Amino acid sequence: MKKKLNRIASDTNFYLKNFLNKQDNSELVPAMKYGLFPGGKKIRSKILLDIGSLLSIDYKTLIIIGAAVECIHAYSLIHDDLPCMDDDEIRRGKLSTHVKFGESTAVLAGNSLQTMACEILASPSLKIREKTKINLINNLSKCSGHLGIAGGQYLDLSYEKKKISKNKIIEMEKKKTGKLFSFCCAAPAIIKNRNNKEIKFFEEIGLNIGLLFQIADDLIDYRGDSEKAGKKTGKDQEKGKATLISLLGYRNAIKYCDKIIININQNLKKYGSNSKNIKETLDYILNRDK
Ligand code: IPE
Ligand code: IPE
Ligand code: MG
Ligand code: MG
Ligand code: MG
Repeated sequence: MKKKLNRIASDTNFYLKNFLNKQDNSELVPAMKYGLFPGGKKIRSKILLDIGSLLSIDYKTLIIIGAAVECIHAYSLIHDDLPCMDDDEIRRGKLSTHVKFGESTAVLAGNSLQTMACEILASPSLKIREKTKINLINNLSKCSGHLGIAGGQYLDLSYEKKKISKNKIIEMEKKKTGKLFSFCCAAPAIIKNRNNKEIKFFEEIGLNIGLLFQIADDLIDYRGDSEKAGKKTGKDQEKGKATLISLLGYRNAIKYCDKIIININQNLKKYGSNSKNIKETLDYILNRDK
């Protein structure tokens, strides 16, 4: 798994570096690069490739779409760490972007990465039909905005230090984290021009993968090995974040994750033997320590 992720990371970073180098330079580029590289696990790109393999989409196309996703993800992390949000000083084992470059630069670099995702999807290097590109841009923008990451992050912050119901926590986690995974799962079906029902099916799978991913992230925070995680841990409790762990306890949260995994695997069986790719990724997501 590590080897696969490393290959995805190096191909994605290669594409992104090239993309940035072809543009005119600006004062924000160093902060944008700092937030992007060397970068994280590239788990969203892996999911995109796993689902893409079910629908026989070529690797290069998926890497470019994954690069756009990683820009949105990097932007969301830069903003997530700001003092007005989670106020975290370490990310991916180094200083957070705002600590290194200052708050205003971090906000603007984040904004620029978000719009760069759309530039990537619109660029001629992505060789798919124009109509499909518009559909992808539309879907990714929705997943990033007030009905997706931004809306979920709003809920995350407004739920701090409050007693929040299970359903509300799930809705918040599906928005702040699930929606980007939902895009990763829907994109291959959009490219293949599948009907709305099948696109919705994959979006739903993605939401649940994202929920699983966020609970696993909350478990990492709870277990508290900040060295391995590359970021401060124990902070969810400190900040009074509403999580399934704070509501149900550690063991029940893991049981809940097991159920999600069984359910997703069951749903994807009908796509044949390539569904083993997603199976290994889901196990990795739950058992990782960073
Ligand atoms: C961290 O995401 C933020 C969450 C949505 C929980 P990742 O754990 O994917 O971060 P990187 O990209 O690997 O650093
Ligand atoms: C972040 O969730 C979700 C995002 C959409 C960025 P967290 O706030 O738990 O992520 P970490 O633990 O700081 O990486
Ligand atoms: Mg947060
Ligand atoms: Mg955070
Ligand atoms: Mg966390």
